[in-house]
Amino acid sequence: MDRTAAELKRRAAEEAVKLVRSGMVLGLGHGSTAHYALVRIAELLRAGELRDVRGVPCSRAVEREAVKLGIPLAALEEHPVLDLTIDGADEVAPDLNLIKGGGGALLREKVVAQASRREAIVIDEGKLSPDLGTRFPVPVEVLPFGWKTHIPFLEGLGAEVVLRRGADGTPFRTDQGNFVLDCYFGPIRDPQALARALEGRAGILGHGLFLGLATDLFVGGPSGVRHLRRPSV
Ligand code: A5P
Repeated sequence: MDRTAAELKRRAAEEAVKLVRSGMVLGLGHGSTAHYALVRIAELLRAGELRDVRGVPCSRAVEREAVKLGIPLAALEEHPVLDLTIDGADEVAPDLNLIKGGGGALLREKVVAQASRREAIVIDEGKLSPDLGTRFPVPVEVLPFGWKTHIPFLEGLGAEVVLRRGADGTPFRTDQGNFVLDCYFGPIRDPQALARALEGRAGILGHGLFLGLATDLFVGGPSGVRHLRRPSV
């Protein structure tokens, strides 16, 4: 990541952390931008400016990171409604719909987003896009059993499909042990219809279209951080 993008991500994340109040139970997002929010929350806890904050991590990696930083953890089973989640995104449309899952944590991220009263997305301005799918594939999490059967189905929906692999060349596994198929659609004209099609198929366990879930967007740009809110919020 170049230095400028990292700095824009950090500023956006730190601005979003201003929404955090003492006593909140937070969703802790996955990825390099959400990481800056974790670091800032830990600083504020250490300084005593925030107290009694607990976090539900969106991935095992974030869980390890939160423990290292000294952020107390909580479980969704004990706190099924979260006050606020701060998470990143891969592509953001003007209506605050998103593609997420570049880091492979899409399913847990969506469970956490659905459980959150407020879902604050933090990005650098390079993630903004006129139409989802223009810049990023839609990750689709599938059960390893019969995974290849989804390829013709996804191609029929207009995607070019690539099985995600790890650095060692073996299939990438999510925290649930599933595979990810990265689906290159190009600009998606009707994300709701695509989401419905994906959700109707057995063996597809999740997808990276986050529609109507983000309430707040913090965009880091060279002239500062813009805070956009979904109109109903
Ligand atoms: C993780 O699965 C993703 O949804 C991330 O939130 C997304 O990929 C953004 O990551 P960066 O902040 O690292 O760009």
